[in-house]
Amino acid sequence: MDKRITISTLNKMKAEREKFVMMTAYDSTFSRLISEAGAETILVGDSLGMVLQGHDNTIPVTIEDMAYHTDCVCRGRPHSLVVADLPFMSYDTTEKALRSGMLLMQAGAQMVKMEGGVWLSDSIHQLVERGIPVCAHLGLTPQSVNVFGGYRVQGRTPKEAKSILADAVEIQDAGASLLVLECIPAHLAADISSKLDIPVIGIGAGSGTDAQVLVLHDMLGMTENPPKFVENFMTGAETIQGALAAFVSAVKTGAYPREEHTYT
Ligand code: KIV
Repeated sequence: MDKRITISTLNKMKAEREKFVMMTAYDSTFSRLISEAGAETILVGDSLGMVLQGHDNTIPVTIEDMAYHTDCVCRGRPHSLVVADLPFMSYDTTEKALRSGMLLMQAGAQMVKMEGGVWLSDSIHQLVERGIPVCAHLGLTPQSVNVFGGYRVQGRTPKEAKSILADAVEIQDAGASLLVLECIPAHLAADISSKLDIPVIGIGAGSGTDAQVLVLHDMLGMTENPPKFVENFMTGAETIQGALAAFVSAVKTGAYPREEHTYT
């Protein structure tokens, strides 16, 4: 990749039905390698609470942690568009969302990600008005693990599916630029992706989304008991660079995700 990826690149890829790739990164070396592998987007995920810090969930992660790792990732000078997670309770009011968004943008992010639907509309609108693009996140939103009673597939009942679709339309109307859908049935994710104009990125959401994201440590085979949607791309790869390139290629050719990675 020889030029920086922007939201215009991703919108064009959606229009041309070309799949794009997101991977998580938390440091400058992986940021550079992921960018060189051709992933269009990098997520500085609050999954760092689990894969770096060793917590059971993402709830202990702070805005200072996120700003530190966003800064590290951006020093890798990736061509990929960098999205950084706003952590638990750092955006529960619009005022806090604006301050937290500012900290991550000043650390180098080009977009922030927030978990939630309709209740975030006003914050999304205010962030975008002030120059902070937003990626929304629906379905299994890990910061709400205690509300869900575990990491469970969402959107399986008609009522839940209707509510996720309504949230998706609302957050698009509020000004979100991207949407992540996590652990929902493949048919629901495909339906939402076709109804929205903004690019939709899936994780455990089947092959009908515009893009795929995986947590770095999962796709490099370093996670104990990974969820069923994860493929270990180190299998058959000689180097980490080879595994990253294999993931990019598998998403773009449609070889990942397969039926065995999806929920119904
Ligand atoms: O924090 C993270 O890594 C995420 C992905 C699971 C999408 O939000």
